[in-house]
Amino acid sequence: MLQIDDLHVRYATAEAVRGVSASATPGRITLVLGANGAGKSSTLRAAAGLVTPHAGRVTLEGRDVTGLAPHKIVRHGMVLVPEGRRVFAPLSVEENLVLGGYTATREKSAEVLAQVYEMFPILGQRRAGAAGLLSGGEQQMLAFGRALMSSPRVIMLDEPSMGLAPTMVESVLGAVRGMADAGIAVLLVEQNAEMGLEIADEVVAMARGEVVFSGPAEQARSNASVLLAFLGEAALVE
Ligand SMILES: Nc1ncnc2c1ncn2[C@@H]1O[C@H](COP(=O)(O)OP(=O)(O)OP(=O)(O)O)[C@@H](O)[C@H]1O
Ligand SMILES: [Mg+2]
Repeated sequence: MLQIDDLHVRYATAEAVRGVSASATPGRITLVLGANGAGKSSTLRAAAGLVTPHAGRVTLEGRDVTGLAPHKIVRHGMVLVPEGRRVFAPLSVEENLVLGGYTATREKSAEVLAQVYEMFPILGQRRAGAAGLLSGGEQQMLAFGRALMSSPRVIMLDEPSMGLAPTMVESVLGAVRGMADAGIAVLLVEQNAEMGLEIADEVVAMARGEVVFSGPAEQARSNASVLLAFLGEAALVE
């Protein structure tokens, strides 16, 4: 399980994250909502070790991993799928996946690869093809698969449905639910609040670097401050 406590992130002069606490538990999805610039990505990036938090604590299964290098955090069982997918376009689907399994032994890697193909059959069908030839939604599945190659117990996903057609958004979010159902703890940032709320178990809503709501998803669906957080986003989308 992931626990983020009183996290602060600073860039030069601005404090992007101011005392954020959030958690992710096995088999469940914690949805992070908030308008553009609320500090969602900064929270994830700091938890993953990509930026050094100014203050606060990140623990994985009770172990303090605050400020560790990203690859060390991956070895401790947590992986971030950043915004924008970033698959290696000229490499094959399988080569992309194998790169994600760099922390594993060869035997383990082959075993997890088979599991990934079982979870995402389209990746198996296209395994020898260039990743750049996949559709946006398929590339997102590949980004998920690559993250799963390190056998994470916690996975953080930054806006996986960004820029996808509505039907693709549905299957990407279905895949997110599938990862949670496989027992992984999921921390999901999703700009499509309505669809995110459909699959979420817990919700953390952020505004201007702070948490303005934290609680069960069913409560979030009827809470005004959450509504405001995603009304802000909707306004920006239009
Ligand atoms: N590398 C950086 N250097 C300086 N400021 C940054 C940097 N990255 C983010 N910021 C600022 O920190 C604040 C939070 O940004 P962040 O990307 O975490 O928000 P977000 O909630 O993920 O937004 P979005 O919905 O647009 O992805 C913003 O004001 C942003 O301009
Ligand atoms: Mg972001």
